[in-house]
Amino acid sequence: MAKITVSIIKADIGSLAGHHIVYDECIEAAEESMEKGVDEGIILDYYVTNCGDDLELIMSHRKGESNPDVHKLAWDTFLKAAEVSRKFKLYAAGQDLLKDTFSGNVKGMGPGVAEIEFEERRSDPIVCFMADKTEPGAFNLPMYKIFADPFNTAGLIIDPAIHDGFIFEVYDVIDHQYVRLSCPEELYDLLAIIGTPGRYVVRKVYKKDKTPAAVVSTTRLSLIAGKYVGKDDPCAIVRAQHGLPAVGEVLEPFAFPFLVAGWMRGSHHGPLMPVSQEDAKCTRFDGPPRILALGFQVSDGKLIGPADLFDDPAFDEARRLANQIADYMRRHGPFMPHRLGPEEIEYTTLPQVLEKLKDKFIKEKE
Ligand code: F6R
Ligand code: MG
Ligand code: MG
Repeated sequence: MAKITVSIIKADIGSLAGHHIVYDECIEAAEESMEKGVDEGIILDYYVTNCGDDLELIMSHRKGESNPDVHKLAWDTFLKAAEVSRKFKLYAAGQDLLKDTFSGNVKGMGPGVAEIEFEERRSDPIVCFMADKTEPGAFNLPMYKIFADPFNTAGLIIDPAIHDGFIFEVYDVIDHQYVRLSCPEELYDLLAIIGTPGRYVVRKVYKKDKTPAAVVSTTRLSLIAGKYVGKDDPCAIVRAQHGLPAVGEVLEPFAFPFLVAGWMRGSHHGPLMPVSQEDAKCTRFDGPPRILALGFQVSDGKLIGPADLFDDPAFDEARRLANQIADYMRRHGPFMPHRLGPEEIEYTTLPQVLEKLKDKFIKEKE
């Protein structure tokens, strides 16, 4: 049996009431297009949803990662949904579709991509994470916790099948290079780099025997377009159970609403709030940043589910704390560390202000 691939390909194709939520008719257009993809034998199954203003296509197929047919299907689906956005003059219609012609792969064209190819196990649970108003590096902390922190993942200590640890592939989004670090042996080196989530992004995690365990989208829209064009709201797929972390270990890092970059105008830090599908929409100050977790069982290539995993009072305290942190951070207004540092800020008024003030600055004598 050919291996199975699960792909999440996502894009902001325009939304309702500013950058808030994908419009129902856009979701319907995407579903129709995905259904055609099934009929044409490109994909086996799909689930269309949204996290805030991002349209998320979750697909299963046997064509492997970076397959041109699957990517073309996703691209065409985004074009159709963007057409609906334009029809209703929705906000920022077609925002993430940065190129005119498709050339085999949506990577580098605007959409975010997380794909993982694996042998389907006797029973194969996966968790699909989708976040809004943040960046791919937001997954650094949870990936570390899930796959390297025994205080999070009890299995690292007590399950012989994962006691060996995991290999992290970290991508440098500025210099376009990657490094593989084996944990626990190289744990401190890993933490030394992934603590800079705007640059070093955990993009894959494997077991020591090379079994794929997790994948994170790594698009940097601003680096593609050369200017701010929206956030790189990321997605990720994590496989769970039976020789991998349990679903509960995969979700556990999100009980702590840690700070991420990407709130308001892609230029502020805020807490990452775990939410249900119903609450996967950013409101206050265009946020706070949110993360949605949908669980599926992969069954003969079909996606059984989803289970809305953060739709649980067990995450109420994380949400409450996130609201308190949001209050605290907001009080800083335009001051760092609420506002991102100058090298990270995506709305580039700062250089313009400095340029304007250039002649007003008076040099102090030594
Ligand atoms: C978009 C986002 C928002 C926008 C903000 C300004 O995903 O993060 O916070 O950056 O609403 O949007 P524009 O520039 O379109 O007026
Ligand atoms: Mg938007
Ligand atoms: Mg978004």
